[in-house]
Order: sequence, then structure tokens, then C-alpha cells
Amino acid sequence: MGSVQLRGVSKWFPRREGEPLHVLQNVDLDAPERSIVAIVGASGSGKSTILNIVAGLVRPDAGEVYLNGVPAEAFKDWRSMTYMFQDDRLLPWRTAAQNVSFGLEAGGVGRAERRERVAETLELVGLTGFADAYPHELSGGMRSRVALARSLVTRPSILLMDEPFSKLDPSIRAQMHEEVLRIKELMGMTLLFVTHDVEEAVVLAHKVVVLNPRPGRVRETRTIDLPYPRDPLSPEVAEQARLLRGSL
Ligand SMILES: Nc1ncnc2c1ncn2[C@@H]1O[C@H](COP(=O)(O)OP(=O)(O)OP(=O)(O)O)[C@@H](O)[C@H]1O
Ligand SMILES: [Mg+2]
Repeated sequence: MGSVQLRGVSKWFPRREGEPLHVLQNVDLDAPERSIVAIVGASGSGKSTILNIVAGLVRPDAGEVYLNGVPAEAFKDWRSMTYMFQDDRLLPWRTAAQNVSFGLEAGGVGRAERRERVAETLELVGLTGFADAYPHELSGGMRSRVALARSLVTRPSILLMDEPFSKLDPSIRAQMHEEVLRIKELMGMTLLFVTHDVEEAVVLAHKVVVLNPRPGRVRETRTIDLPYPRDPLSPEVAEQARLLRGSL
């Protein structure tokens, strides 16, 4: 459970004037079960569009998307996928626990089980004791943990993340990387994420897909063959990041 494949995916967005904008061209991508795949590329190269297509929010104009080996049109288990957006999108009038609970309310999970799963998930992300805090009472790093908890509370097998940690300062970001790797192992998820930060891609991913812009095409898929945990300050990570930067 939890694989994502794109085969020959192309996308054009209509424009009010002129030709449609060619955003993705013939994109192939493979995120096997329990893998971590990063997408990097210049702004406008179609990274978010790829996640939106995987999440079923945008339809490709050509090509196929397979989720757990099933064509996306026939895929039923959408609740096994969650999408963590770049901004945390926490509801300011809800406490941390109520924000995390949000994903379960739509799914018809009863109140008692909801409470238990929310508490468990807050503990998982290191937020025990902050269940009743409102977003404005939390630091950026803590808000990011709440957003992560909200994505995890439904126990997804596929987690999509669009630059989720880009606004955090480097030391907090490094902590979040450790948390994500720990939780990913624990829950056996597949992670597909977008980043501007090549070091982040190298620290987290088994595989990095580099997109060329306009239209977005896969320039290179680089396997990062380093053992975990990866020290962001190590020469091995620096070397892989240098190679990636060269290909961007
Ligand atoms: N729903 C939409 N309708 C029309 N055009 C869109 C839509 N979504 C994205 N685009 C266009 O598609 C192109 C790729 O956008 P996308 O958001 O995928 O890029 P990105 O690689 O994520 O960029 P960034 O790094 O800045 O987030 C952009 O030119 C954008 O204007
Ligand atoms: Mg984007």
C-alpha cells in the first residue's frame, strides 16, 4: 500500500488570452511503497501541479496516474492519502487538538475514538501538553507539528507535502526532518514532497526528481544512496546537494 506512479503525464492550463500554458510534458515518476521521493525544480516548473494531479485535484490532459497500482480514476481509497500544503492552513478558532481532529470528523469517526487518536497523534509529533492551545499561541515549529499531526491522524499510506518546512528556521527544520523520518518508518508511509531546498531533498529522499521548466519535464532522477540518518552538515550530503544544484 502506498505507491505512486506517473506515466507520460502532460498538462496544459487554459489562459484567458493566447495559447494554453504547457505546464508538464511527458512526466514519469515512481514512488514505490515506503519510499521517499523529492521533486525539485525552478519556480513555475510544475512541482505543485504534479502533487495536485496525484491528489486528484487537477486532471492530467495526457498520461496515467497509478495509486497503489490502480489507475487514479478507479482508485477508491482517497482517505489513505493526505496532502500537507505549504502554508499550515490551521483554523485559528480551533485548538491544536480540534485542528487535528478535523480530518477525522469528515470521516465519521466517533467522538471517543477521535479523542484517543488525536491525543496519540499529538504525542507522536511531540505536542503532548499543547492540545488546548490555539494556533496563535504556538511557535512556527509547533504549528508545523500540528499541521503534520493533522495529516497523520487519518493514518495515511501516502503523504504529499508541498514545501512544508520552508518557512521554518534551519534548526527547527532539521528537527522536523528527523520527526518525519521517524514517523514515516513507524507508519510505513510513502512520501512524495516538493522542495526548493536541495539539502532538504538530499537529507530526506531516496530519490530526487529534477524538473526542467516550461514545460516541466523530468531532467534527471537521482538516487541518493546514503544511509539514514543523514547529517545535513556531512561532506556526503554536501556533495549530493552540489550535484543536484548543478543539474538545476
Ligand atoms: N489552476 C491553475 N490554473 C492556471 N494555471 C495554473 C494553475 N496552477 C498552476 N498554474 C500555472 O502552472 C505553472 C506551474 O505552476 P506550479 O504551481 O505547479 O509551479 P511550481 O513548480 O510549484 O512553482 P513554485 O516553486 O513557485 O511553487 C505556473 O506557470 C502556474 O501559473
Ligand atoms: Mg509550488
